[in-house]
Amino acid sequence: MTDFVERYGPWAVVAGASEGIGASFSQKLAARGLNLVLVARRAAPLETLAAGLRDQHGVEVRVQPLDLGSPDAVSKLGAAVEGLDVGLLIYNAAYSPIGRFIDIEVEEHLKAVAVNVHGPLRFSHYFGRRLAERGKGGIILMSSMSGYQGTAMVANYAATKAYDTILAEGLWYELRGRGVDVLACIAGATLTPSYESVTDDIPSKGLARPMPPDEVTEQALKDLGQRPSGASGRRNRFASALLSRILPRSAAIEMVSKETVRLYG
Ligand SMILES: NC(=O)c1ccc[n+]([C@@H]2O[C@H](COP(=O)([O-])OP(=O)(O)OC[C@H]3O[C@@H](n4cnc5c(N)ncnc54)[C@H](OP(=O)(O)O)[C@@H]3O)[C@@H](O)[C@H]2O)c1
Repeated sequence: MTDFVERYGPWAVVAGASEGIGASFSQKLAARGLNLVLVARRAAPLETLAAGLRDQHGVEVRVQPLDLGSPDAVSKLGAAVEGLDVGLLIYNAAYSPIGRFIDIEVEEHLKAVAVNVHGPLRFSHYFGRRLAERGKGGIILMSSMSGYQGTAMVANYAATKAYDTILAEGLWYELRGRGVDVLACIAGATLTPSYESVTDDIPSKGLARPMPPDEVTEQALKDLGQRPSGASGRRNRFASALLSRILPRSAAIEMVSKETVRLYG
């Protein structure tokens, strides 16, 4: 734990922190002794989480309500972390409009690009420079197995997640010489409030069975500094190999898209 704080502390920023995977990351980082800056749009759930983490783990926690999709998000957060020695960024939030691409208004797609592409780009650039300058730290970008191939019903979201994976992998190579570990955490279906809000059909077996957020985040914190990208759990690692390396592309697209049409269609 001391090594973890030494390498990635004393402060971490969790962007998209108040529930699901982001809240789980926040819990695990506080348990490891990191002070936290928690970001999301709604202040109330952030304040509740922050109070619990201070009580449970005795760490300092600040909250910063802001919309990560807005162009001034990074300058607002930059002002909030002025003077804090931040060693770790986790960019977790995403927006995923669900439906057939042409049935969704283009503004919704652009909102997803703002939160899932512009946000990680701006935050990785800002914190990448800061971390490289101090010579150590880490960045985790949350990605998705839908980013391995084209995926029906979430075609634009899947494309934004391909961006997140590829950005993190490039930065893994570029920044490792500067002491900064970068990871794309490639989640499969995960039982979060966001996931539960878009489907009533939660499979209890098979490849698409959702995982608890704590398993995803525990694996990501283990993978950081070990590899450029990683999936959590044996089922997801098997699915990752199948989708990205074994199946012909058209077969991978069909396999995943049949599942997303069944879930969201
Ligand atoms: N759940 C899954 O099955 C699954 C599968 C694969 C990958 N992932 C990836 O895992 C990550 C987390 O997913 P999730 O299911 O936990 O839900 P999520 O909806 O992406 O994230 C929820 C958290 O992010 C905050 N947030 C959302 N939009 C925001 C914005 N524009 N600005 C600031 N904060 C924002 C939410 O709080 P507010 O609403 O208060 O802003 C909440 O704290 C995402 O990157 C997603 O792509 C999830």
